[in-house]
Amino acid sequence: MDWGMRNRINRIIKPDTGHTVMLAVDHGYFLGAMNRIEDPAATIKPLIQFCDALMPTRGVLRTSVDPATDTPIVLRVSGGNSIAGPDLANEGITVDFEDAIRLNVAAVALSVYIGTEFENQTLLNLTELVNQGQTFGIPVLAVTAVGKELEKRDARYLKLCCRISAELGAAIVKTYYCEDFEEVVKGCPVPVVIAGGPKLETELDALKMAYDAIDRGAAGVDMGRNIWQSDFPVPMIRAIREVVHKGAKPEEAHELFKQLRSESEKNVDPA
Ligand code: R5P
Repeated sequence: MDWGMRNRINRIIKPDTGHTVMLAVDHGYFLGAMNRIEDPAATIKPLIQFCDALMPTRGVLRTSVDPATDTPIVLRVSGGNSIAGPDLANEGITVDFEDAIRLNVAAVALSVYIGTEFENQTLLNLTELVNQGQTFGIPVLAVTAVGKELEKRDARYLKLCCRISAELGAAIVKTYYCEDFEEVVKGCPVPVVIAGGPKLETELDALKMAYDAIDRGAAGVDMGRNIWQSDFPVPMIRAIREVVHKGAKPEEAHELFKQLRSESEKNVDPA
């Protein structure tokens, strides 16, 4: 692998732990102004220093992320669909590679929809990006998306999706945590990170999911809602870091979350 490609991957997946905490803030590309990310700049500002990579769209990157940041950017470059439209799987490539380079990205990301009517189209989107990425030394992260069909998230299906994504050249694959997750990782020759999915009932539930994923071989998390839809997003991302980078048990990380939460409550300006 070329130096530039390796360097970019090492900026995302930290070589000292082999793990990564990515913060996903790309949801608006098909979901619009979701709860707690209506003002992306306000959501991102306190969190960006605590993530190893940020995953926005180019619109959010240019409008809402301070260019002084040294946090690597994994740019969402697929879309063209919406929650109001007929089929979430119908995605194309939305960003010219030249613009991704202009934005100094560490990687580009797209979704693939395996087993849908748009399987071929989205897999060819992946190969198009991999070909361009090879030219410029930019890795591609493939998201094994399920659209509205959350029940598809089982090991048999996700193992198929992750392996196909890696076979077609993805450098990192993002998928969902599931029962028998180690089977998904075992069948995938590139690092696997997990999405958080819809907000779970408690922070402890999300910490348990992150712990189980790492324990079963994930390289990290690329989480959104379970961080920024928490009432205490900074304590939450810091607790997630404890699990991902330091191997803290969920209960230990939850203690840290509670301690940071109580400190942040004390710091609230009463005016
Ligand atoms: C969904 O397609 C988006 O790419 C999100 O980045 C992804 O689902 C991760 O965010 P969350 O943890 O909220 O599921």
